[in-house]
Amino acid sequence: MSPPYRSTSRSPHLSKAVAVAAERLAEGGVVAFPTETVYGLGADAEQAEAVRRVFDIKGRPADHPVIVHLAEAAHARDWAADIPENARRLMARFWPGPLTLVLPARAEVSRLVTGGQDSVALRVPAHPMARALLHAFTAARGGGGLAAPSANRFGALSPTQAWHVRASLGARVDQVLDGGPCRYGLESTIVSLLAERPRVLRPGALSVSALREVLGEVDCDPGEHMETPRAPGRLAAHYAPSTPLEVHAGEQLVRRAETLLARNLRVAVLRRNRSLRGKPGLPPLPEFLLPTRPETYARGLYARLRELDGFAFDRLLVEAPPDDEAWWAVNDRLARAAARTRDPERV
Ligand code: TXA
Ligand code: MG
Repeated sequence: MSPPYRSTSRSPHLSKAVAVAAERLAEGGVVAFPTETVYGLGADAEQAEAVRRVFDIKGRPADHPVIVHLAEAAHARDWAADIPENARRLMARFWPGPLTLVLPARAEVSRLVTGGQDSVALRVPAHPMARALLHAFTAARGGGGLAAPSANRFGALSPTQAWHVRASLGARVDQVLDGGPCRYGLESTIVSLLAERPRVLRPGALSVSALREVLGEVDCDPGEHMETPRAPGRLAAHYAPSTPLEVHAGEQLVRRAETLLARNLRVAVLRRNRSLRGKPGLPPLPEFLLPTRPETYARGLYARLRELDGFAFDRLLVEAPPDDEAWWAVNDRLARAAARTRDPERV
Protein backbone atom coordinates (compact mmCIF):
# COMPACT_ATOMS: atom_id res chain seq x y z
CA MET A 1 0.00 0.00 0.00
CA SER A 2 1.44 3.37 -0.88
CA PRO A 3 1.56 5.74 2.06
CA PRO A 4 -1.18 8.37 2.18
CA TYR A 5 1.48 11.07 2.14
CA ARG A 6 4.45 11.63 -0.08
CA SER A 7 7.02 14.03 1.18
CA THR A 8 5.88 17.56 0.47
CA SER A 9 8.28 19.18 2.89
CA ARG A 10 10.59 20.40 0.15
CA SER A 11 10.53 24.09 0.87
CA PRO A 12 13.90 25.25 2.21
CA HIS A 13 12.24 26.92 5.17
CA LEU A 14 10.49 23.71 6.20
CA SER A 15 13.61 21.61 5.75
CA LYS A 16 15.60 24.02 7.89
CA ALA A 17 13.10 23.79 10.74
CA VAL A 18 13.14 20.00 10.49
CA ALA A 19 16.94 19.86 10.36
CA VAL A 20 17.23 22.06 13.45
CA ALA A 21 14.63 19.94 15.25
CA ALA A 22 16.49 16.72 14.41
CA GLU A 23 19.71 18.17 15.79
CA ARG A 24 18.00 19.29 18.97
CA LEU A 25 16.50 15.84 19.45
CA ALA A 26 19.88 14.16 18.92
CA GLU A 27 21.31 16.48 21.58
CA GLY A 28 18.64 15.46 24.09
CA GLY A 29 16.05 18.15 23.37
CA VAL A 30 12.26 17.86 23.36
CA VAL A 31 10.42 18.74 20.14
CA ALA A 32 6.71 18.64 19.32
CA PHE A 33 6.00 17.41 15.81
CA PRO A 34 2.98 16.66 13.63
CA THR A 35 1.87 13.15 12.79
CA GLU A 36 -1.13 12.13 10.69
CA THR A 37 -3.03 11.26 13.91
CA VAL A 38 -2.21 13.93 16.53
CA TYR A 39 0.87 15.99 17.46
CA GLY A 40 3.53 14.13 19.40
CA LEU A 41 6.02 15.33 22.02
CA GLY A 42 9.27 13.72 20.95
CA ALA A 43 12.54 12.83 22.62
CA ASP A 44 15.38 10.45 21.79
CA ALA A 45 14.08 7.13 23.16
CA GLU A 46 17.62 6.21 24.22
CA GLN A 47 18.33 9.33 26.29
CA ALA A 48 16.79 8.84 29.71
CA GLU A 49 17.00 12.51 30.69
CA ALA A 50 15.18 13.60 27.56
CA VAL A 51 12.42 11.01 28.03
CA ARG A 52 12.07 12.05 31.68
CA ARG A 53 11.59 15.62 30.53
CA VAL A 54 8.74 14.52 28.27
CA PHE A 55 7.04 12.80 31.21
CA ASP A 56 7.58 15.88 33.32
CA ILE A 57 6.20 18.31 30.71
CA LYS A 58 3.11 16.14 30.26
CA GLY A 59 2.62 15.51 33.96
CA ARG A 60 2.47 11.86 33.05
CA PRO A 61 2.98 9.10 35.67
CA ALA A 62 6.30 7.33 35.21
CA ASP A 63 4.83 3.84 34.87
CA HIS A 64 2.92 4.70 31.70
CA PRO A 65 4.68 3.52 28.54
CA VAL A 66 5.23 5.66 25.44
CA ILE A 67 5.22 4.79 21.76
CA VAL A 68 8.57 4.67 19.95
CA HIS A 69 8.33 6.27 16.51
CA LEU A 70 10.58 4.87 13.81
CA ALA A 71 11.74 6.12 10.41
CA GLU A 72 11.33 2.71 8.75
CA ALA A 73 9.65 -0.61 9.49
CA ALA A 74 13.07 -2.26 9.13
CA HIS A 75 14.13 -0.52 12.36
CA ALA A 76 11.53 -2.46 14.37
CA ARG A 77 14.12 -5.21 14.78
CA ASP A 78 16.23 -2.88 16.93
CA TRP A 79 13.40 -2.64 19.48
CA ALA A 80 11.33 -5.80 19.28
CA ALA A 81 12.73 -9.13 20.50
CA ASP A 82 10.38 -10.97 18.20
CA ILE A 83 8.32 -9.93 15.19
CA PRO A 84 5.60 -12.51 14.65
CA GLU A 85 4.12 -13.13 11.22
CA ASN A 86 0.99 -11.12 11.98
CA ALA A 87 3.13 -8.12 12.91
CA ARG A 88 5.06 -8.40 9.66
CA ARG A 89 1.85 -8.43 7.66
CA LEU A 90 0.44 -5.44 9.50
CA MET A 91 3.66 -3.47 9.03
CA ALA A 92 3.78 -4.29 5.33
CA ARG A 93 0.21 -3.15 4.86
CA PHE A 94 -0.24 -0.20 7.21
CA TRP A 95 3.18 1.35 7.87
CA PRO A 96 3.81 4.18 7.47
CA GLY A 97 0.42 4.92 9.00
CA PRO A 98 -1.83 5.29 12.06
CA LEU A 99 -1.16 1.86 13.57
CA THR A 100 0.88 1.11 16.71
CA LEU A 101 2.08 -2.43 17.40
CA VAL A 102 2.87 -3.75 20.87
CA LEU A 103 5.64 -6.36 20.68
CA PRO A 104 7.99 -8.08 23.11
CA ALA A 105 10.82 -5.62 23.90
CA ARG A 106 14.49 -6.34 23.48
CA ALA A 107 16.37 -6.33 26.76
CA GLU A 108 18.26 -3.13 25.82
CA VAL A 109 15.09 -1.04 25.44
CA SER A 110 14.85 1.46 28.29
CA ARG A 111 12.19 0.49 30.84
CA LEU A 112 11.48 4.19 31.09
CA VAL A 113 10.03 3.96 27.60
CA THR A 114 8.15 0.72 28.23
CA GLY A 115 6.77 1.83 31.60
CA GLY A 116 8.71 -1.00 33.23
CA GLN A 117 7.11 -3.66 31.05
CA ASP A 118 8.73 -6.24 28.79
CA SER A 119 6.84 -4.99 25.75
CA VAL A 120 7.36 -1.98 23.50
CA ALA A 121 4.91 -0.03 21.34
CA LEU A 122 6.20 0.87 17.86
CA ARG A 123 4.87 3.02 15.06
CA VAL A 124 6.12 4.42 11.74
CA PRO A 125 4.16 7.63 11.18
CA ALA A 126 3.13 8.72 7.68
CA HIS A 127 3.08 12.50 7.99
CA PRO A 128 5.77 13.88 5.64
CA MET A 129 7.20 16.16 8.31
CA ALA A 130 7.37 13.35 10.87
CA ARG A 131 9.09 11.16 8.31
CA ALA A 132 11.56 13.87 7.36
CA LEU A 133 12.26 14.49 11.04
CA LEU A 134 12.78 10.80 11.81
CA HIS A 135 15.08 10.36 8.84
CA ALA A 136 17.16 13.40 9.76
CA PHE A 137 17.24 12.30 13.41
CA THR A 138 18.31 8.73 12.65
CA ALA A 139 20.94 10.05 10.20
CA ALA A 140 22.35 12.30 12.94
CA ARG A 141 22.26 9.54 15.56
CA GLY A 142 23.09 6.56 13.41
CA GLY A 143 19.76 4.88 14.17
CA GLY A 144 17.34 5.18 17.03
CA GLY A 145 13.73 6.24 17.50
CA LEU A 146 11.64 8.97 19.04
CA ALA A 147 9.65 8.31 22.18
CA ALA A 148 6.58 10.46 21.66
CA PRO A 149 3.31 10.57 23.56
CA SER A 150 0.63 12.96 22.37
CA ALA A 151 1.74 16.54 23.00
CA ASN A 152 -0.77 17.43 25.70
CA ARG A 153 -0.98 17.49 29.48
CA PHE A 154 -1.81 14.02 30.83
CA GLY A 155 -5.54 13.33 30.55
CA ALA A 156 -6.28 16.38 28.39
CA LEU A 157 -7.32 16.60 24.73
CA SER A 158 -4.69 15.59 22.20
CA PRO A 159 -3.47 18.44 19.97
CA THR A 160 -4.39 18.29 16.29
CA GLN A 161 -2.83 21.61 15.30
CA ALA A 162 0.52 23.19 16.14
CA TRP A 163 -1.05 26.11 18.01
CA HIS A 164 -2.80 23.66 20.35
CA VAL A 165 0.65 22.54 21.47
CA ARG A 166 2.01 26.07 21.67
CA ALA A 167 -0.94 27.20 23.73
CA SER A 168 -0.62 24.45 26.33
CA LEU A 169 3.06 23.38 26.38
CA GLY A 170 4.83 25.88 24.12
CA ALA A 171 7.03 27.53 26.70
CA ARG A 172 8.32 24.20 27.99
CA VAL A 173 9.42 22.54 24.77
CA ASP A 174 12.49 23.35 22.69
CA GLN A 175 10.61 23.59 19.40
CA VAL A 176 7.15 23.05 17.91
CA LEU A 177 7.15 21.95 14.27
CA ASP A 178 4.07 23.11 12.39
CA GLY A 179 2.78 20.58 9.86
CA GLY A 180 -0.79 21.90 9.65
CA PRO A 181 -3.94 20.19 10.96
CA CYS A 182 -3.68 16.43 11.46
CA ARG A 183 -5.37 14.36 8.82
CA TYR A 184 -7.01 11.84 11.18
CA GLY A 185 -7.38 13.90 14.35
CA LEU A 186 -7.57 10.78 16.57
CA GLU A 187 -4.71 8.74 17.97
CA SER A 188 -3.35 5.62 16.30
CA THR A 189 -5.01 2.25 16.72
CA ILE A 190 -2.97 0.11 19.12
CA VAL A 191 -2.76 -3.63 18.50
CA SER A 192 -1.02 -6.01 20.87
CA LEU A 193 0.74 -8.99 19.31
CA LEU A 194 1.96 -10.42 22.59
CA ALA A 195 -0.56 -13.25 22.61
CA GLU A 196 -1.50 -15.70 19.90
CA ARG A 197 -4.53 -13.64 18.92
CA PRO A 198 -3.98 -9.99 18.02
CA ARG A 199 -5.87 -7.67 20.33
CA VAL A 200 -6.95 -4.05 19.89
CA LEU A 201 -5.84 -2.16 23.02
CA ARG A 202 -7.02 1.22 21.80
CA PRO A 203 -9.41 1.83 18.89
CA GLY A 204 -8.11 4.66 16.74
CA ALA A 205 -7.49 6.16 13.34
CA LEU A 206 -7.08 2.80 11.59
CA SER A 207 -10.43 1.00 11.43
CA VAL A 208 -11.03 -2.47 12.80
CA SER A 209 -12.37 -3.54 9.42
CA ALA A 210 -9.02 -2.62 7.85
CA LEU A 211 -7.26 -4.75 10.48
CA ARG A 212 -9.57 -7.65 9.77
CA GLU A 213 -8.63 -7.59 6.09
CA VAL A 214 -5.12 -8.56 7.14
CA LEU A 215 -5.66 -10.55 10.32
CA GLY A 216 -9.01 -12.20 9.88
CA GLU A 217 -10.25 -12.20 13.45
CA VAL A 218 -9.12 -9.54 15.93
CA ASP A 219 -9.99 -9.49 19.61
CA CYS A 220 -11.67 -6.29 20.60
CA ASP A 221 -14.33 -5.32 23.04
CA PRO A 222 -15.90 -1.95 22.32
CA GLY A 223 -17.74 -2.00 25.63
CA GLU A 224 -14.61 -2.55 27.66
CA HIS A 225 -13.34 0.44 29.64
CA MET A 226 -10.68 -0.98 31.86
CA GLU A 227 -8.72 1.00 34.38
CA THR A 228 -5.33 -0.18 33.26
CA PRO A 229 -2.56 1.84 34.82
CA ARG A 230 -0.16 0.51 32.21
CA ALA A 231 -2.19 1.99 29.37
CA PRO A 232 -3.26 5.56 30.15
CA GLY A 233 -5.22 5.75 26.91
CA ARG A 234 -7.48 3.17 28.46
CA LEU A 235 -8.17 4.93 31.73
CA ALA A 236 -11.82 5.67 32.26
CA ALA A 237 -11.32 9.43 32.23
CA HIS A 238 -8.99 10.67 29.50
CA TYR A 239 -9.00 12.81 26.36
CA ALA A 240 -11.18 15.25 28.26
CA PRO A 241 -12.00 18.90 27.71
CA SER A 242 -12.33 21.05 30.81
CA THR A 243 -16.05 21.66 30.19
CA PRO A 244 -18.13 18.89 31.83
CA LEU A 245 -19.55 16.78 29.06
CA GLU A 246 -22.41 14.31 28.73
CA VAL A 247 -23.33 12.07 25.80
CA HIS A 248 -27.02 11.44 25.12
CA ALA A 249 -29.14 10.09 22.29
CA GLY A 250 -31.73 12.42 20.64
CA GLU A 251 -34.83 12.41 22.86
CA GLN A 252 -32.84 11.97 26.03
CA LEU A 253 -30.63 14.89 25.04
CA VAL A 254 -33.66 17.15 24.62
CA ARG A 255 -34.94 16.24 28.10
CA ARG A 256 -31.52 16.64 29.64
CA ALA A 257 -31.14 20.09 28.07
CA GLU A 258 -34.48 21.16 29.55
CA THR A 259 -33.50 19.93 33.02
CA LEU A 260 -30.16 21.75 32.96
CA LEU A 261 -31.66 24.94 31.59
CA ALA A 262 -34.26 24.89 34.35
CA ARG A 263 -31.29 24.99 36.74
CA ASN A 264 -29.96 28.07 34.97
CA LEU A 265 -26.88 26.30 33.65
CA ARG A 266 -25.16 27.49 30.53
CA VAL A 267 -25.58 24.57 28.18
CA ALA A 268 -24.22 23.97 24.68
CA VAL A 269 -24.98 21.15 22.28
CA LEU A 270 -22.50 19.37 20.02
CA ARG A 271 -24.20 17.46 17.26
CA ARG A 272 -23.70 16.13 13.79
CA ASN A 273 -24.76 18.22 10.81
CA ARG A 274 -28.47 17.95 10.13
CA SER A 275 -29.05 15.34 12.83
CA LEU A 276 -31.14 17.23 15.38
CA ARG A 277 -32.19 20.15 13.23
CA GLY A 278 -35.77 21.08 13.87
CA LYS A 279 -36.00 18.45 16.59
CA PRO A 280 -39.29 19.23 18.29
CA GLY A 281 -38.80 20.36 21.84
CA LEU A 282 -35.07 21.17 21.65
CA PRO A 283 -34.73 24.52 23.42
CA PRO A 284 -32.79 27.24 21.57
CA LEU A 285 -29.22 26.58 22.66
CA PRO A 286 -25.76 27.39 21.34
CA GLU A 287 -25.01 24.58 18.93
CA PHE A 288 -21.72 23.35 17.60
CA LEU A 289 -21.52 21.07 14.62
CA LEU A 290 -19.33 18.27 13.40
CA PRO A 291 -19.52 16.44 10.08
CA THR A 292 -21.76 13.42 9.60
CA ARG A 293 -19.19 10.77 8.64
CA PRO A 294 -17.03 9.10 11.29
CA GLU A 295 -13.71 10.01 9.62
CA THR A 296 -14.50 13.69 9.28
CA TYR A 297 -16.16 13.85 12.69
CA ALA A 298 -13.02 12.35 14.23
CA ARG A 299 -10.82 14.81 12.38
CA GLY A 300 -12.61 17.78 13.91
CA LEU A 301 -13.56 16.43 17.33
CA TYR A 302 -10.64 17.50 19.53
CA ALA A 303 -10.36 20.92 17.88
CA ARG A 304 -14.11 21.50 18.45
CA LEU A 305 -13.93 20.46 22.09
CA ARG A 306 -10.93 22.73 22.60
CA GLU A 307 -12.79 25.61 21.00
CA LEU A 308 -15.81 24.94 23.20
CA ASP A 309 -13.65 25.09 26.32
CA GLY A 310 -12.99 28.73 25.45
CA PHE A 311 -16.64 29.63 26.04
CA ALA A 312 -16.78 28.34 29.60
CA PHE A 313 -20.13 26.59 29.31
CA ASP A 314 -21.30 24.76 32.41
CA ARG A 315 -22.21 21.67 30.46
CA LEU A 316 -21.74 20.32 26.97
CA LEU A 317 -24.35 17.88 25.71
CA VAL A 318 -23.00 15.70 22.91
CA GLU A 319 -25.47 13.92 20.70
CA ALA A 320 -24.48 10.26 20.74
CA PRO A 321 -23.09 9.11 17.37
CA PRO A 322 -24.37 5.80 15.97
CA ASP A 323 -23.45 2.74 18.00
CA ASP A 324 -21.61 0.84 15.29
CA GLU A 325 -18.07 -0.26 14.61
CA ALA A 326 -17.18 2.60 12.27
CA TRP A 327 -17.76 4.95 15.23
CA TRP A 328 -15.92 2.83 17.80
CA ALA A 329 -12.90 5.10 18.23
CA VAL A 330 -15.03 8.25 18.39
CA ASN A 331 -17.46 6.70 20.89
CA ASP A 332 -14.52 5.47 22.97
CA ARG A 333 -13.05 9.01 23.20
CA LEU A 334 -16.42 10.58 23.97
CA ALA A 335 -17.06 8.03 26.74
CA ARG A 336 -13.68 8.84 28.28
CA ALA A 337 -14.21 12.57 27.97
CA ALA A 338 -17.59 12.13 29.70
CA ALA A 339 -16.10 9.96 32.44
CA ARG A 340 -14.57 13.04 34.00
CA THR A 341 -18.06 14.44 34.57
CA ARG A 342 -18.52 11.87 37.29
CA ASP A 343 -21.91 12.83 38.54
CA PRO A 344 -23.99 14.26 35.72
CA GLU A 345 -26.67 15.30 38.21
CA ARG A 346 -24.23 17.50 40.07
CA VAL A 347 -24.36 21.14 39.09
O1 TXA B 1 -1.39 8.52 17.41
C1 TXA B 1 -0.68 8.25 18.37
O2 TXA B 1 -0.54 7.10 18.79
C2 TXA B 1 0.05 9.43 19.03
C3 TXA B 1 1.06 9.97 18.04
C4 TXA B 1 1.89 11.09 18.64
O3 TXA B 1 1.86 8.92 17.58
N1 TXA B 1 0.66 9.03 20.25
C5 TXA B 1 -0.06 8.74 21.36
O4 TXA B 1 0.73 8.47 22.45
O5 TXA B 1 -1.28 8.74 21.40
P1 TXA B 1 0.19 8.41 23.94
O6 TXA B 1 1.40 8.25 24.78
O7 TXA B 1 -0.67 9.57 24.21
O8 TXA B 1 -0.61 7.09 23.97
C6 TXA B 1 0.09 5.89 23.77
C7 TXA B 1 -0.66 4.74 24.29
C8 TXA B 1 -0.86 4.81 25.78
O9 TXA B 1 -2.19 4.44 26.08
C9 TXA B 1 0.13 3.77 26.28
O10 TXA B 1 -0.22 3.20 27.50
C10 TXA B 1 0.10 2.77 25.17
O11 TXA B 1 0.10 3.57 24.02
N2 TXA B 1 1.30 1.94 25.20
C11 TXA B 1 2.57 2.32 25.00
N3 TXA B 1 3.41 1.28 25.17
C12 TXA B 1 2.65 0.22 25.50
C13 TXA B 1 2.91 -1.14 25.82
N4 TXA B 1 4.15 -1.61 25.84
N5 TXA B 1 1.87 -1.93 26.11
C14 TXA B 1 0.61 -1.45 26.09
N6 TXA B 1 0.28 -0.18 25.81
C15 TXA B 1 1.29 0.65 25.51
MG1 MG C 1 -2.15 10.73 24.85
